[in-house]
Amino acid sequence: MHADTLLEAHDLVKDFGAASVIRGVSLRILRGETLGLVGESGSGKSTLARLLLRLLEPTSGRILFHARDQEAAGSLPDAVAGHAGKVYSLLDLNTRQMRRLRRRLCMVFQDPFAALNPRMTIRQILAEPFLIHHEQPPAGLSARLHELLVEVGLEPDALGRFPHEFSGGQRQRINIARAIALRPELLVLDEPVSALDVSVGAQVINLLRDLQQRYGLTYLFISHSMPLVRYLSHRIAVMQGGCIVESGAWDEVCHAPREAYTQRLLAATPEIPALERLS
Ligand SMILES: Nc1ncnc2c1ncn2[C@@H]1O[C@H](COP(=O)(O)OP(=O)(O)O)[C@@H](O)[C@H]1O
Ligand SMILES: [Mg+2]
Repeated sequence: MHADTLLEAHDLVKDFGAASVIRGVSLRILRGETLGLVGESGSGKSTLARLLLRLLEPTSGRILFHARDQEAAGSLPDAVAGHAGKVYSLLDLNTRQMRRLRRRLCMVFQDPFAALNPRMTIRQILAEPFLIHHEQPPAGLSARLHELLVEVGLEPDALGRFPHEFSGGQRQRINIARAIALRPELLVLDEPVSALDVSVGAQVINLLRDLQQRYGLTYLFISHSMPLVRYLSHRIAVMQGGCIVESGAWDEVCHAPREAYTQRLLAATPEIPALERLS
């Protein structure tokens, strides 16, 4: 057990009927890092992401969340805190406990259009996490929402508008604002720029990097694009057919890939000029 681990998974398996989609995955996400999860379409990346946040129940395996000392006492029941020190077994938490933990573990999905309710104003969308988690709607909620928009590079007058009034890149910024609203520790980013134009995506990637530095966020960054993963990730894990076939520091894995599959992924994806210039 490492002191700086945020989330770890052991032997995760997910079967859908006869199909085994996740076939024994173990991984560790360190506090403050970006772990890049890369693999071809259908290799199980999204399924694994949903398992890690318990949006989907695994068939078997364990998931451990490491809380910092000062966090543990306040926001989770003592019974759980006392049970295993400051390490929580996610799959042993009941619905209510899981709900309390969920605000620390957030997800941004690939499709910036599907993720936003078209009938809600941006104000309502961004206020939602505060309401769901019974965060005292403070007198300062409005100021906090303004601040959130500025943090993701949008104008505060966006609050009164509806999702359809924004471009794909702007909508993904709104999704990111909602995900960071309650200051989570882990953001799982499931192909967050795959639906965007390259240059717009590059700007969103830069925003994610800024936010990580500013708030010490931890990312699980999922992509099928090696250049994107390279730009953002400290370590990478390579997924194929429901297994992690190779993992380690970016340099180790990509300068001397042991798997032919990893070599193919590296060869298949062109460089992204907008990112290369910035790095
Ligand atoms: N609910 C489900 N029922 C059956 N099969 C599923 C389900 N969800 C995903 N799969 C299958 O699991 C495999 C991995 O899917 P996914 O996790 O979405 O991969 P990726 O995100 O890497 O593209 C695919 O073959 C997909 O068809
Ligand atoms: Mg996917």
